[in-house]
Amino acid sequence: MADSAAATMGHSATGGHGPTDGTKRDFLGLVAGAGGAVLVGALAWPFIDSLNPSKDVLALSSTEVDLTPIAEGSAITVMWRGKPTFVRHRTAKEIAEAKAVKPSELIDPSAPATDAERTKAGHEKWLVVIGICTHLGCIPLGNKPTDQRGEYGGWFCPCHGSQYDTSGRVRHGPAPANLALPPYAFETDTKIKIG
Ligand code: FES
Repeated sequence: MADSAAATMGHSATGGHGPTDGTKRDFLGLVAGAGGAVLVGALAWPFIDSLNPSKDVLALSSTEVDLTPIAEGSAITVMWRGKPTFVRHRTAKEIAEAKAVKPSELIDPSAPATDAERTKAGHEKWLVVIGICTHLGCIPLGNKPTDQRGEYGGWFCPCHGSQYDTSGRVRHGPAPANLALPPYAFETDTKIKIG
């Protein structure tokens, strides 16, 4: 290709016209096409790159939580993948109340709906839920024992009055669904890894 291009260009320098003009046009078209591809590539890369998660987001794709400072009866909020996530240390009474509820009593009985499905066996005192109201996305109150928690003792969403129980299940609308559960595992008895 380089030889043929050089020959074509050389012919052109003499000002001649003839059968090689088509080759010249092909060559120039090829060069223009290649330049266009490079330009598109140069413009497209920042756009494509912007679709990739940034390093700080990747770093937060999992979140480790030390459970020791969380007092019984209260919860903390940690950020996991940009979402507020509640980690609650439930009292024996809160656990018993959560276990006593049957899915048929719930607004959202879809699994995971039982308290056993929403907690880890052997670690029932810990509840981990995404702290975003399933109505329109407000962050419910209830992490502190002194917060308003609603009739069911879990969380209360001040935006439109939804109430959640001590398993994070919606018990009073307008929220249509239970608080979502993030994936998590116990690394030790006092440390979990979310994500
Ligand atoms: S956003 Fe929570 S009740 Fe509307």
